[in-house]
Amino acid sequence: MITDGAVGGLYHVCTALAAGLSLLITTDPGWPWPARFVGFSRVPVTMVPVYARERGYRLRVEQLAEVIERRSLLYLIDPLNPLGSSYGRAELEAIAELARASDSLIVHDCTYRHFAQGHTLMAELYPEGTLTTYSFSKWLGLAGLRVGALVGPPGLMGTLTGVPANPLGAGITAQRAAIAGLEVKGPWLGRLRAVNAANQQVVSDAVTASGLGRVLVQPSHGNFLAVDIGESGWTADGLCAALLERDVFIRPGTYQSPLFGERFVKVSTSVPPEWARRFASAWSAAAAGEEPR
Ligand SMILES: Cc1ncc(COP(=O)(O)O)c(C=O)c1O
Repeated sequence: MITDGAVGGLYHVCTALAAGLSLLITTDPGWPWPARFVGFSRVPVTMVPVYARERGYRLRVEQLAEVIERRSLLYLIDPLNPLGSSYGRAELEAIAELARASDSLIVHDCTYRHFAQGHTLMAELYPEGTLTTYSFSKWLGLAGLRVGALVGPPGLMGTLTGVPANPLGAGITAQRAAIAGLEVKGPWLGRLRAVNAANQQVVSDAVTASGLGRVLVQPSHGNFLAVDIGESGWTADGLCAALLERDVFIRPGTYQSPLFGERFVKVSTSVPPEWARRFASAWSAAAAGEEPR
């Protein structure tokens, strides 16, 4: 199903299926929108805390087992924005088993899959209960064109396509751009992943050398790095503002985490290499307490 960005598909799933759901399960940190979407129908939300090194900064099966109920919807972001962690096949199998046993659905949000090393699709393991989102915004940079997709088994998709959110179709310019991108996907991804990896190295070297913060998941499976600044004396918003004064835009954790948002910032890395170098000098200067020029 072609949607208006991956988020258009998420909105549709969360509103169209809400009446049959007992609970939405998501993570903190995570991406806030699906929890807000089901809020329209007063579906309760459980946010499982995953900001923990010993848990690999991702949802563990034991944590899910404690909260899952019959007819839950698990919103599983993988790779996880904003931390950069990802799930191995065995973990996904165990999660699928819990979902199957409780008659629950899984939305596998694969927005950042193209940057991951060794990504497994939940749809291979739990095809009857998984809806997978597809985004063109990150790997292809089409965020402003608003095109994405939702993929799932015929039964579930029948409900969703019966009354689409965009019955007159998604924008044709965006669809043409997406098709053009798919035609050159192999070589384009090869180059993009190399630039992303090199930029992550530049960012992480700068963080280490500065003594300000610690990269949480390395290598990140996304096109970003999360940096813990909990011990630094900076607030996330304060540090982002200080970098913005040096013409560098990074995100505070507060956008994506009610519990841990002040402890980290997120740095995007699928950017021109020059920007990564600019980040490095701005971060070092902020760490050294220099005034912006
Ligand atoms: C986890 C996650 N899901 C979905 C989206 C939305 O993607 P799209 O631009 O395709 O709507 C984003 C964008 O930031 C995201 O981080």
